[in-house]
Amino acid sequence: MKITIRLIVSLLLVVALVAVFFSFYQVRAEKIRLTGELERRAIVLAESLRESVIPLLQSNAFPKLNRLVQRFGNRERLKGFAVLDRQGNIIASTPELKPHIPQPLPQAVSAIAENRPIDGFLTIEGRKTYVFTLPLSAEDTLIGSLALFNDASYIDIRLEGIWTNTILRFLIMALFIAVITLLTVKWSITGPIARFAEWMRELRTGKSKVGQPVSAVRGDVLAPLISEAAQLAKSLAVARARAEEEARLRLQAESLWTANGLKEHMNAELGARKLFLISNREPYMHIKDGRTVKCIAPAGGLVTALDPVMRICDGVWIAHGSGEADREAADAGGKLRVPPEDPSYTLKRVWLIKEEEEGYYYGFSNEGLWPLCHITHTRPVFRLEDWVYYQKVNEKFAGALLEEISGEESPLVLIQDYQLALLPLLVKEKRPDAKVALFWHIPWPNPEAYGICPWHQEILLGMLGADIIGFHIQFHCNNFLDTVDRFLESKIDWEQFSVNRGGHTTLVKPFPISVSFEDASAHALTRPERAALRENILREIDVHADYLGVGVDRIDYTKGIVERFRAIERFLEKYPEFVGKFTFVELGAPSRTHIKRYRELAAEVEETVDRISWKFQDKGWRPIVFLKAHHGHEEINRFYRASDICMVTSLHDGMNLVAKEFVVTRDDEDGALILSQFTGASRELRDAIIINPYDVEEMADAIYLSLTMEPSERAERMKRMRSVVREHNVYRWAGNLITALARLRPSDIANEKRG
Ligand code: G6P
Repeated sequence: MKITIRLIVSLLLVVALVAVFFSFYQVRAEKIRLTGELERRAIVLAESLRESVIPLLQSNAFPKLNRLVQRFGNRERLKGFAVLDRQGNIIASTPELKPHIPQPLPQAVSAIAENRPIDGFLTIEGRKTYVFTLPLSAEDTLIGSLALFNDASYIDIRLEGIWTNTILRFLIMALFIAVITLLTVKWSITGPIARFAEWMRELRTGKSKVGQPVSAVRGDVLAPLISEAAQLAKSLAVARARAEEEARLRLQAESLWTANGLKEHMNAELGARKLFLISNREPYMHIKDGRTVKCIAPAGGLVTALDPVMRICDGVWIAHGSGEADREAADAGGKLRVPPEDPSYTLKRVWLIKEEEEGYYYGFSNEGLWPLCHITHTRPVFRLEDWVYYQKVNEKFAGALLEEISGEESPLVLIQDYQLALLPLLVKEKRPDAKVALFWHIPWPNPEAYGICPWHQEILLGMLGADIIGFHIQFHCNNFLDTVDRFLESKIDWEQFSVNRGGHTTLVKPFPISVSFEDASAHALTRPERAALRENILREIDVHADYLGVGVDRIDYTKGIVERFRAIERFLEKYPEFVGKFTFVELGAPSRTHIKRYRELAAEVEETVDRISWKFQDKGWRPIVFLKAHHGHEEINRFYRASDICMVTSLHDGMNLVAKEFVVTRDDEDGALILSQFTGASRELRDAIIINPYDVEEMADAIYLSLTMEPSERAERMKRMRSVVREHNVYRWAGNLITALARLRPSDIANEKRG
């Protein structure tokens, strides 16, 4: 209110000043005009009287003079006139005036003295009177003067009228100004501020939702503030939801999830229902090894994480049959029970022709979407023919899934990863009752980066067919929601983290994936066993070393393998006491070698190893041993257990399960983990030595630190990391995701308005 009063008072002051200024000038001009008019009339009359008065005065004909004077009394504004002698005393005058004319009349005295007409004002009977005196002369001799008296009171009345008008106008204007200011301030400032404050209060107390009432707050002045506050509210909602999620996770963490626990939980949640999992990569692949057929588990986090879950939940895993001996190992429908040593669930293989694999898998998925989602400065390539195959193959997978779920009521479908982004909508269109989750194993970029993809809208629409979309971390969920916000007409709820489009809601939540904690901890190694294991390994790789490091990757440019080797080189330069003592073993599984960029990378990795080896190599010692092959879990675990350090230096990674697997195998609570800050795992494994893989110096120092760290600190860190992974294991991940999906209400999965 204070500001309104201040505003009104200031405006009124300015208006009053302007009004006074202009009225003052108007009054002055009017006064001059009216006086001038009086003077002109007086001059004319005086001139005409002079001719009659002079002869009478010369001849002292006073009675005649008196008659003449009497004739001119009280005509309109002319009150009368007088003839005066040279001293200014009255000779003859209009009788009513005589008693009121001062003698000598000052104007008459001046007129005689100056011999020119003089005028002025007198007050006669309380009224303002204009006096005009004209000297009279005969034969060049002044003989007296003539004075005309005019009523001038009307001039003051007129001038007062001007002031009265000014005041009246000012008062009316003041009233309008006050009312308009009051309304404007209320309408565009105080009102919106009050509503805005109310909105913020409701947000704070949780009564209203972010994004909802901002539009209800009008007022251009507040527009920038509103947009900033909306952003702030969004961040607040994100933080609040995260805190709630953390609290929920903490609560849950108090009860440990195990394979058996998940099994019981699944029985309770699903009853007789089966689980349908669908991914591009199959969990078991049959390959030819000479004349025999071998079954291997392909490298990659997806398979590592999901196989233990499927072993417990049973159900059907549908995937591309990509092994050269896959057809031989499956039945006519492409099905077989896996794992071979303990059949627990069904694998259904989908067959793709060469062109399909080329366009859908190598082309669109791995030359397009993969580099699109990973910020590693490898340019995505989008070709129309790849996109056509991507759609075709997604339809093919959808067909295979629909066939499997045809007899199931409200089936639970878990779709995996970026190769099958269109599947959720394809499935939901045919089976609206299915409960569909899409889990995205890789990062989700920001909207600008994502917008590069020519089919960005189609992909989002395909994904939003799902009831739940899971990412590893909240940051990727936020990026995804921002992307939807940018490219699609939809309603985003930043409190629930959901997207509503055409009547269908998709929840977008973080489900940080993990590994099983159980197998590895089952056979803990004793200290001498571990020493023996290391001896064996060093013998196998034909190296003498005191310290051993390990890296396990698919050979992929996102993994920062070359950067890691450069850091090892720098470490040996900086800390030469480790030359001849530290050896790093890289277990690199060839991957996607049909793609040029991957072939180039493989060559670059080999060259880097050769160069560094040549630089430092000594008899019986090598700095880096690069074992390029597909390694089974058992083999990898041996290296994890025997090493002092494990290096995960991804340039960008959704989660990275190598980090977690290393931690799981270290039941001796020893070993240090060097972990890239650009992995999802770095959010959970805070006791790792976190590094920026682009910073070679920092990585070199991290290697030194991890090798020279006090054993007690190393043990403490490992203990804490193990407890994180033990609690947040893959059974919890599956339990949370499947529970969220199973508990969706029919109204949540409604899609009747879907366009
Ligand atoms: C990543 C992807 C998975 C993929 C794996 C192995 O982890 O998220 O979807 O299966 O890499 O890659 P590949 O192309 O061999 O399946």
